[in-house]
Amino acid sequence: EKGGYDHFMMKEIYEQPSVIKDTYRGRLLANIGIVQMSGVEDNLEKFLNAKRILVVACGTSWHAGLVAEYIIEEFSRIPVEVEYASEFRYRNPIINKDDVVIAISQSGETADTLAAIKLAKENGAFVFGVCNVVGSSISRETHAGAYTHAGPEIGVASTKAFTTQITILTLLALRLAKAKGTLSNSDYQRYLLELELIPEKVEEALLTNDIAKKIAEIYKDASNCLYLGRGYNFPVALEGALKLKEISYIHAEGYPAAEMKHGPIALIDESMPVIVIAPNKGHYDKVVSNIQEIKSRSGKIIAVVTKGDTQVKALADHVIEIPETNEPFTPLLTTIPLQLLSYHIAVLRGCNVDQPRNLAKSVTVE
Ligand code: F6R
Repeated sequence: EKGGYDHFMMKEIYEQPSVIKDTYRGRLLANIGIVQMSGVEDNLEKFLNAKRILVVACGTSWHAGLVAEYIIEEFSRIPVEVEYASEFRYRNPIINKDDVVIAISQSGETADTLAAIKLAKENGAFVFGVCNVVGSSISRETHAGAYTHAGPEIGVASTKAFTTQITILTLLALRLAKAKGTLSNSDYQRYLLELELIPEKVEEALLTNDIAKKIAEIYKDASNCLYLGRGYNFPVALEGALKLKEISYIHAEGYPAAEMKHGPIALIDESMPVIVIAPNKGHYDKVVSNIQEIKSRSGKIIAVVTKGDTQVKALADHVIEIPETNEPFTPLLTTIPLQLLSYHIAVLRGCNVDQPRNLAKSVTVE
């Protein structure tokens, strides 16, 4: 049932090329310039009239929401706010009738997310769900939605749910951009064609497994770890750190790279591995100077770079190369080696990868 892999997590990491494709199949018709999801088509006016979009979610799904914030704002110019469902529901939030609330949940059973949905509905908002489990509580409680087609996710640490959630939210952003005319035709078309290529690029990103394993052997005994990224890859830094914490029990934190100088840089010494997500897009030069700052304080740099990179390579202790893509789609690729790295570190530390201590697959308590 693990398909020849030692753990469900590894099987699920390797399923990503095919489940991303399953998630956009029939919805992304790149050659004729169409993106369609019935839950969106049926409610297009609600999305187009929305003054803002509120995203509510927890954990990894919340990280997917942060990626979506960047993509939706960039492509469709609708303001997006992303909230932890648990904070949203307990703080008397402002919810308007013309708000669209997007609830993201793999299991569809997360109690805090469910409660946030109920609150949004009571206040008259339209609630759209992005769930993986068909017929789950959240899929029933929302007005409409789009399923991720990730298939059952058994490993407690979420992997393929994350990348398929981003896929759905990217399709949504593109659909809204088309309706609103916020992307030029050529950019719109270029993004559609590029999205279609993502599964094969994820396949290529999975070839980083050997190097991820080698790096894991070097750093498996670290007691702390920092993850840095900017822009679209800031949420990936958070997600990379969460994955490491959950399954290896190493203390890890994700930060926007530019925040280093406002505090976390004090942590850097020769025993601190710093994972820097540094694709050749989006403020690359700034990331390079962040790397220099860490190097000059003797931190160990593990960098995720675009194939063919030279500048970061010259500075980093280790590099992991991923294929080139458009900036908004880089999270779908940069996240892959970070999943693999966490996996190998956890295995080398003898941890129970699929069922980490203290965690449950769906959190149905508040
Ligand atoms: C992370 C993880 C959790 C879940 C969170 C939300 O690997 O598994 O952080 O992402 O509990 O769960 P869902 O998406 O089912 O609402």
